[in-house]
Amino acid sequence: MTTKESRYETLVAQVAALIEGETCRMSVLANVTAALHDAFPEIFFWVGFYMVEDGELRLGPFQGPVACMHIACGKGVCGTAWAEKRTLVVPDVEDFPGHIACSSLSRSEIVVPVFGRGGSVKAVIDVDSCSLGAFDEVDARYLEKIAKNLSKELAL
Ligand code: SME
Repeated sequence: MTTKESRYETLVAQVAALIEGETCRMSVLANVTAALHDAFPEIFFWVGFYMVEDGELRLGPFQGPVACMHIACGKGVCGTAWAEKRTLVVPDVEDFPGHIACSSLSRSEIVVPVFGRGGSVKAVIDVDSCSLGAFDEVDARYLEKIAKNLSKELAL
């Protein structure tokens, strides 16, 4: 197991503990962003949730600089992950057509959908890095696991 994987294993357990017995969704999501940020402070420049509300993505709990508050379906990396219902790993944000630049420091990112019970997207997890190519299939696998646990336990 790589260092990265072992850090994610610890993070997955920590997120499970944060979810356990809690019903206040926003409080849990806020703590999950803090746990994510703390797990990889040197890589995760911005980490947060965008929630599907009234047909758009709205900024939810996050760690990092001020970010855009509304994203339409199909727009930017977040809106595309929502529209296509899949994880997107973007090694260089400048190569992604329509990328929404909330901060010029962000160079690469990963966006993971959080599905509700019926299979619709209820939220996305957005993680940005100041480094190019910061994310790979290991990040995708573990962030998808965290997204699944959140949707299951919080009935998103
Ligand atoms: N990068 C996102 C916008 C949100 S900020 O990065 C926090 C996108 O293109 O969807």
